[in-house]
Amino acid sequence: MSRLAGKTALITGAARGIGQAFAERYVAEGATVAIADIDLERATATASRIGKQAFAVHLDVSDQASIDAAVRTVAERTGGIDILINNAALFDLAPIVEITRESFDRLFSINVAGTLFTLQAVARSMIARGQGGKIINMASQAGRRGEALVGVYCATKAAVISLTQSAGLDLIKHGINVNAIAPGVVDGEHWDHVDALFARHENLAPGEKKRLVGNAVPFGRMGTAQDLTGMAVFLASQEADYIVAQTYNVDGGNWMN
Ligand SMILES: NC(=O)c1ccc[n+]([C@@H]2O[C@H](COP(=O)([O-])OP(=O)(O)OC[C@H]3O[C@@H](n4cnc5c(N)ncnc54)[C@H](O)[C@@H]3O)[C@@H](O)[C@H]2O)c1
Repeated sequence: MSRLAGKTALITGAARGIGQAFAERYVAEGATVAIADIDLERATATASRIGKQAFAVHLDVSDQASIDAAVRTVAERTGGIDILINNAALFDLAPIVEITRESFDRLFSINVAGTLFTLQAVARSMIARGQGGKIINMASQAGRRGEALVGVYCATKAAVISLTQSAGLDLIKHGINVNAIAPGVVDGEHWDHVDALFARHENLAPGEKKRLVGNAVPFGRMGTAQDLTGMAVFLASQEADYIVAQTYNVDGGNWMN
């Protein structure tokens, strides 16, 4: 398949997990992919494993100079960015009365400001080039409703859904489609970390939270990163030209809208 032949994609947080699966699939669909991550060593290893259509670039989405440098580097190296996936994010967990300002600032700086200002830098570059583009933000089912122990992360993902709507409406006049994917529970290193946090706060055995959330998915299991790649290809393709400012649930039936 080559639904993204000749396209260049910048994927943030692509050194591992869902971002890495997006990068692998995009390359399989003919795209050139910049694996943009704060962990340059791992991004470099991921890019070399994927092959010569992928390359690593250092990016800290909480740092404006880093965003500007990474977007400039990728645009100059490839001739222009066609697709952005705003995928980098952090998770934290605490009861409301224990949330710290440090955790709040860190998550909002990466999950919300990082998403907005990376989107902004790439949108500016797409507008200057005049060929439109596709921007996909990673939201979450956590952005659809609050959760007792997950207040800050849920709020960041609700903000991502809202920013997707505003940016989608503002940028479509430039031929830039902004949409989002809201995954449910996706197994991998991220959920190993989430499971350990829940184990501590809910007094569960390691692996128990994963088992519980997996059993609760209507589809019958946790998602995999590969479960999300079809939507990521579709939203980046020409077939999604008329789709604007939407957030799609890809979650095995956890959430309906
Ligand atoms: N895994 C899930 O169950 C799940 C569910 C819903 C939504 N999501 C969302 O999907 C996206 C990917 O999740 P994942 O499970 O692959 O996460 P992950 O934690 O496995 O990977 C995140 C990547 O982001 C990078 N990163 C962290 N801080 C960064 C920064 N400041 N700048 C650039 N890169 C940075 C990390 O190095 C890592 O490679 C996230 O937006 C997450 O919120 C995940």
